[in-house]
Amino acid sequence: MKKIVTILGARPQFVKAAVLSRVIKEHHQVEEVIIHTGQHFDANMSAVFFEEMEIPKPTYNLAINSLGHGAMTGQMLEKIETILIKEKPEAVVVYGDTNSTVAGSLAAKKLHIKVIHIEAGLRSFNMKMPEEVNRILTDRISDLLCCPTETAIKNLRNEGYENLPIKMERTGDIMKDAVAFYSKTSADKSSIISDLNLKENKFVLATIHRQENTDDVHKLKSIFAALEEINSACKVVLPLHPRTKKILEQQSIQPNITLINPVGYFAMLELLKNCKMVISDSGGLQKEAFFNKKYCIIAREETEWIELVENGFAEIVGSNQSKIVNAFNKYKTATIDFNIELYGNQVGESIHQSIVALLTK
Ligand code: UD1
Repeated sequence: MKKIVTILGARPQFVKAAVLSRVIKEHHQVEEVIIHTGQHFDANMSAVFFEEMEIPKPTYNLAINSLGHGAMTGQMLEKIETILIKEKPEAVVVYGDTNSTVAGSLAAKKLHIKVIHIEAGLRSFNMKMPEEVNRILTDRISDLLCCPTETAIKNLRNEGYENLPIKMERTGDIMKDAVAFYSKTSADKSSIISDLNLKENKFVLATIHRQENTDDVHKLKSIFAALEEINSACKVVLPLHPRTKKILEQQSIQPNITLINPVGYFAMLELLKNCKMVISDSGGLQKEAFFNKKYCIIAREETEWIELVENGFAEIVGSNQSKIVNAFNKYKTATIDFNIELYGNQVGESIHQSIVALLTK
């Protein structure tokens, strides 16, 4: 059986890997070995996803975290290389745009091991974002690019990828499968709605963790001031990322909204299903809002998921307090038809087929 090594490290990667690992197990055509870099390590940022989503236990956990970008990526590169030399896989699978993604792909490429990038071709066109750098580097050294959207394919074509010996497939967005699969049981598995005494359509779900927002106190204060203002009309619930928590504490910002610890996937799905609207700077949550037919206010200056904005399912407002509040007031009573196919179908199956085709070529 052909062997692949999957590199995981951060929360959104666990969600995506859960889908593909399940499909891989069902087909028995490929053996998967998982390396967890340790980038996210709190139980509620990591272990809870492996348990709830039944992701196979990683064979390796590198425990590399809480370092600057260079040290983190460098240490991962070194340790992953050692493991790849030992495991000798046919290919390495990486997800998204994190430091774990770029370290995994680079380690593999230098050993002439094929690289498969899932969620390829996304661009924010903002090179100050560490994620943009990671995804551009990873795409360029991959052998198979599994693209979630038509926009992603277009981005790659614009960068001349058609002239490179790299396979591009529009497989669709793997998070769509995750939402569809785990939504079936989330209400039985999580009691978060009753625990927090939330009422359907009567609260806003917010998350804020992007470096561009957390590392700029002015922006951070402005976003939280907007959330407080909205909270006076409609309860705002915000699962707090450890980075944001640290900075709020350092700056003595104590927002008057419902701050909760990071939640597992079932609880997140329940919050998404029941909320009125989403306000976020996360990439993944923008689409999860769409899959749950919820409008998303994007607290960033750009988005990789531009089709959401173009089709009227999300608006980019940045960190400006009044823009965030105005967007909430504009959309709180809007009726939007979410029935449009933007992100493919049976995405896990489609990625699995592309991987098998690459390995048997
Ligand atoms: C990373 C990814 C980003 C992704 C995000 C999802 C990079 C460059 N960024 O950002 O693309 O959207 O994950 O959440 O890889 N921390 C804890 N406990 C944890 C995890 C993190 O305390 O379980 C702390 C870290 O020590 C660090 C901070 O939170 O101080 C930020 O974590 P880091 O892994 O650097 O990046 P994220 O902001 O999570």
